[in-house]
Amino acid sequence: MKNSKNLDRRFSIAPMMDWSDRHCRYFWRLLTQQSLLYTEMITTGALIHGDIERHLQFDPSEHPIAVQLGGNNPADLAHCAKLCEDRGYDEVNLNVGCPSDRVKSGFFGACLMNQPQTVADGIKAMRDAVDIPVTIKCRIGVDDNDSYEALCEFVDINAQAGCEVFIVHARKAWLSGLSPKQNREVPPLDYPRVFKLKEDFPKLSIVLNGGLKTIDDCQQALQQLDGVMIGREAYQNPSMLQYVDSELYGDANTELLSAMPSTINSSLAAAHRFAEYMDGQLTQGVRLNHMTRHLLGLFNGQTGARAYRRHISENANKTGAGINVFMDALAKLGTPS
Ligand SMILES: Cc1cc2nc3c(=O)[nH]c(=O)nc-3n(C[C@H](O)[C@H](O)[C@H](O)COP(=O)(O)O)c2cc1C
Repeated sequence: MKNSKNLDRRFSIAPMMDWSDRHCRYFWRLLTQQSLLYTEMITTGALIHGDIERHLQFDPSEHPIAVQLGGNNPADLAHCAKLCEDRGYDEVNLNVGCPSDRVKSGFFGACLMNQPQTVADGIKAMRDAVDIPVTIKCRIGVDDNDSYEALCEFVDINAQAGCEVFIVHARKAWLSGLSPKQNREVPPLDYPRVFKLKEDFPKLSIVLNGGLKTIDDCQQALQQLDGVMIGREAYQNPSMLQYVDSELYGDANTELLSAMPSTINSSLAAAHRFAEYMDGQLTQGVRLNHMTRHLLGLFNGQTGARAYRRHISENANKTGAGINVFMDALAKLGTPS
C-alpha cells in the first residue's frame, strides 16, 4: 500500500455518483496503476444510518483510494472520516461542489461555498479525528458569489483549518435553474483562475478539474499545477487511461501488459482481466450489467465497437446473464457491424 501521507496526486479520477462504484474502480485500476481513485460521494447520513460495510467496501487493488464524503456537521464528518480511515482509505475528501437539489436541501455540497467557516469547522474536526489527508473538492464560485477574492477567502480559511489539497472544478455552479448535468456544461470553464490560485497559495496542492480530455491537456495543466482530475472522459472513453502511467508517471503498466501476449492491445487485456473479476462477482450475486455498464465505451472508435456495445446492452440485463454474454460481446470486435 502506498504511503497515505505522500499520495501522488498528478492524476486522479473524479468521484461520480452511480459511475465510480467499486466495480468501475476495479476496472480503472487495471488500466492505470498510478492514478488516485475517488469513490462516489457518500453522505454522512448514509454512513451513520445505513450499511457501513456496503458503502465503504473496496478491493485492496484500488489503492491509492480516496473516499468522498457529503455533509456539513463537524461531529458527523469526524465520525465518518474515522470510519473510512479504519477501513483503509488513503484520503478523505469533502464534497463542496455538488449542486443537486437533494444535496442543496441538506445544506451541503456546492452551497457550502457560501459558508467557508462551516466547511472549515468540518475540516478541522476531521483533521483532529484522522491521520490520513483531508481534502476539499470545490467550485470556483456559486451563483453571484463568484469573485476571485471570495474563492481565496474560502481557500485561506480552510487551509488554516488544515486542508492542504484543493481540487477545483474550474466553473461555478448555479444553485437554481440548472440541473447537475447542466452545471457541468453551462457555466464557462476558467482555468486561469485556478492557475492564479496556485500562484497565490504556492504551498497548497491545487488540482484542476473540469473539461480535461486528453493526456496532452493534462500535461499542459501539470506544468502549473500539482494535479489534474478527470471525470467524464475517463468514464466514457476509458481506454485513454492506459496511457496515464507511461505518459504522466514514466512508468509502463507492466502488470497489465505482461498479462496478455503483446499482440493484444491493453484495452482488450483489461477486458479479459475484468472478465475474471466479473466471474467471481457473479458467484457472489452481483448482476452482470452492474459491471459491464462501465465498459461500454472501452472500445470506442474500434471496428466492431457498436456490435460489442449492442450485444451488452441487449443481453447483460437479462436474468441470470453470465460471463459468456461479455465474452460473446468481445468476439464482435474486429468485425465491421
Ligand atoms: C455522473 C456524474 C456523477 C458525479 N458525481 C459527483 C460526486 O459524487 N461528487 C463530486 O464531487 N462530483 C461529482 N461529479 C462531478 C465530477 O466529479 C467532475 O467534477 C465533473 O464531471 C467535471 O469533470 P469532467 O469535466 O472531467 O467530467 C459527477 C459527475 C458526473 C458526470
